[in-house]
Amino acid sequence: MCGIVGAVGRESGSEALDTVLEGLSRLEYRGYDSAGVAITDAYAAEPQILVRKEVGKLSALRNSLAEDPLPNATTAIGHTRWATHGGVTRENAHPHRSWDGKLALIHNGIIENADAYRAHLKTLDIKTVSETDTEVVAHLLERAFLAEPKPAGGEEPVGPESVSILELDPENPNPKDATRLVRAMSRVARDLEGSFTLLAIQEEAPGVIVAARRSSPLVVGLAEDANYLGSDVLAFASQTHQALEIGQDEVVVVTPSGVLVLDETGTEILHTRGLEVFAKTPAEKERLFEIDFATDRVTKEGFDTFMEKEIREQPRAVAETLKERLDAKGALTLDELRIGAETFRGIESVIIVACGTAAYAGQVARYAIEHWCRIPCEVELAHEFRYRDPVVSVRTLVVAISQSGETMDTIMAIRHAREQGARVLAIVNTPGSTISREADAVLLTHAGPEIAVASTKAFTAQIAACYLLGLYLAQVRGNKYADEIADYLDRLSEMPAKIQTVLDRYAGSPDLGVDLERIKSVIFLGRHVGYPVAMEGALKLKEIAYLHAEGFAAGELKHGPIALIEEGQPVVIIVPTPRRPELHRKVVSNIAEVRARGAVTLVVAEDGDESVNEFAEVVWRVPKTPTLMRPLVDVLPLQLFALRMAGHLGFDVDQPRNLAKSVTVE
Ligand code: F6R
Repeated sequence: MCGIVGAVGRESGSEALDTVLEGLSRLEYRGYDSAGVAITDAYAAEPQILVRKEVGKLSALRNSLAEDPLPNATTAIGHTRWATHGGVTRENAHPHRSWDGKLALIHNGIIENADAYRAHLKTLDIKTVSETDTEVVAHLLERAFLAEPKPAGGEEPVGPESVSILELDPENPNPKDATRLVRAMSRVARDLEGSFTLLAIQEEAPGVIVAARRSSPLVVGLAEDANYLGSDVLAFASQTHQALEIGQDEVVVVTPSGVLVLDETGTEILHTRGLEVFAKTPAEKERLFEIDFATDRVTKEGFDTFMEKEIREQPRAVAETLKERLDAKGALTLDELRIGAETFRGIESVIIVACGTAAYAGQVARYAIEHWCRIPCEVELAHEFRYRDPVVSVRTLVVAISQSGETMDTIMAIRHAREQGARVLAIVNTPGSTISREADAVLLTHAGPEIAVASTKAFTAQIAACYLLGLYLAQVRGNKYADEIADYLDRLSEMPAKIQTVLDRYAGSPDLGVDLERIKSVIFLGRHVGYPVAMEGALKLKEIAYLHAEGFAAGELKHGPIALIEEGQPVVIIVPTPRRPELHRKVVSNIAEVRARGAVTLVVAEDGDESVNEFAEVVWRVPKTPTLMRPLVDVLPLQLFALRMAGHLGFDVDQPRNLAKSVTVE
């Protein structure tokens, strides 16, 4: 929710602004209600803050800048908004200026005590022009800046134990004012309640960006003659692959030559010069990480939409997630986990917490984990978890699944779990994200950046990662013999090719054999692992085609939902493999039941399963696949169906209305 970018360089061209605009285009999936930038130039005779913002997508801002360009800038910040406080208007778009116009601020998150401050500002005759909490902070920050005395000496450090701005950036034209801005930010951030990432520039300190974060994402990108800030690494991945994690309640000062990170007391944690990190403790150096994807993975690569491209990337997403997991003796290793095998042996239950698509991946994984490890496994929507007072102990493994690693509901769930003593293992797709930092252990999915708002390749990569975890648990706990584990891994490693087979069959098909015109609402049915896949299929259709869709457990049909079936009602049914006759038989009966009541049946079935033919209007075929692996292929026709439906209805597939990719508020 809301994308934030900052760039500060030495070049006095349009570079910082161009970099920020490019970063915004990569973060637009985080919100697209409005977009805006603010710039200043450290070498201008009289630096000024200039702001441009437009309602709507980034293209509106780009058009405005094309018609009426902004001048050169060494320093720029940019924002793409998903509205929380206040409607979608230009006044409410970020950046927000302070009343004197000398400071500009962008923000992601929610400031809970903004109303009290707004009332206070009114008593000082400072009126807000927007309905946002952010504007209130802009005024507070400017007031704090003006209240800060100019430091006496030119080399005055910015905190009790830290380098001075001049040490950090010897060419800084206004080190004293930069110091004032840092101190003001520290002071204001301490008094704010809620969640925030704040980035500020001020015209008297034009060579720095000052940022602060609490419970909202922020990463820093390091380069030799410029440094960057972003909600995630996509913001600056085309400029540098060196990134730095920023912790809770930290303040960051970014100049062209270095970055300074302060804790909440204003004490230095680390600073950088170019790509070198000078940390007070060796552990802090571990915040530096390398962005391990090529930036071409954030372009459409010739596809019309990111979603189509990401659906097609699933063979690679799953293969990369499974890659290099066997040691020399053929045992499964998950080296990156910081939880020892002894702890895993002592685990008595697993609770998976996640939201949306990630929760459906967790529901699939539950069948495998319980089957392989003989350990109870629950799946809980992260936003419900802590409110039900869950039974969690030091012997509970809480597994948080998240593509973005920034979903606030999931963050709050893992904090609650850790407070109760549970170990938290995160399965995330975004290195350096909050969830990966706050968990005890991290297992990365290697799906590459997912830009389309509707999740596709992250889902299959999450299932693959959960299966690795399940097999690893079974191995260390002795639930399965080595040859059984190897056998499962072999079957898993066949999945990228099977995914490719399904994509080759259907990804090029414009209508998948369905009369799209007739589709007004869709029911999805599945049994066993097909049940969460049915719910995922329904979610995709709701999200991007805005159609009413529901996923049900096929067995639940007769307990109520069958009343919805009338002549012409489309029903998608996932049919299990005939090699599990106890599942297969029942689902085939369910198809017959809905068909008898006039449903139009769209069926996902294995190659060679002819039993479905007489009841199915359309059959989407998937290769013969063991039951637990079937979700990895079954979901593909459903993703493509939603994509085709949305395209047919003329909707924006990558940026559906009201949604944002990364839900960073509760
Ligand atoms: C659906 C979708 C959402 C996310 C959910 C969790 O297509 O994208 O349901 O799966 O918001 O997001 P992450 O995985 O980033 O925690």
